[in-house]
Amino acid sequence: MEYSIIELQEKLKYILPPKRFIHSLGVQYTCANLAMRYGCDIQKAQIAGLLHDCAKYMPDEEMLTLCRKNFIPVTETEEKSAFLLHAKLGAFFAENVYNISDKDIIDAITYHTTGKPDMTLLEKIVYVADYIEPSRKRIHGLKKIRKISYDSLDEATYLILESTLNFLQKESTREIDPRTKKAFEYYKYLNTH
Ligand SMILES: [Fe+2]
Ligand SMILES: [Fe+2]
Repeated sequence: MEYSIIELQEKLKYILPPKRFIHSLGVQYTCANLAMRYGCDIQKAQIAGLLHDCAKYMPDEEMLTLCRKNFIPVTETEEKSAFLLHAKLGAFFAENVYNISDKDIIDAITYHTTGKPDMTLLEKIVYVADYIEPSRKRIHGLKKIRKISYDSLDEATYLILESTLNFLQKESTREIDPRTKKAFEYYKYLNTH
């Protein structure tokens, strides 16, 4: 059975902590805006945005256990920085709990945290919307990135990858996923050549 967006919202409301739920709604609506701007399927973008953090409510240990139980491969980086797992676990939940069969939506959820080189339009929309949605505050350069998001999605993707890597290198002890570095190199080249 396929759920409507309202039904998906109602389910998430009971599972996610309130702030995470508000963030998910913000990403849903921002995905809708970006889909209108760039000619992507609005319904798909909204569902991907709404569900992108659907696994982000449990401790790291529980995510690791659930991945093992469901035969979801865990990389070395994910083992050390288990918060990364909410992306692939979220994709798993989208498919198996929320009955999403659309591969484009599943992929957009899978790659929303690390990004990757050569993302699809939907993947970029979710990646960018996650960063710029209205309830995000106090991120350096956010105002500028919000504006650029509606001028060039590729440039916004590049700037978000750059600022995420800067943050991870300077202010965090979190392990950096090699996919994020590769994504950064890809979008840097794309935007500077
Ligand atoms: Fe996330
Ligand atoms: Fe998010």
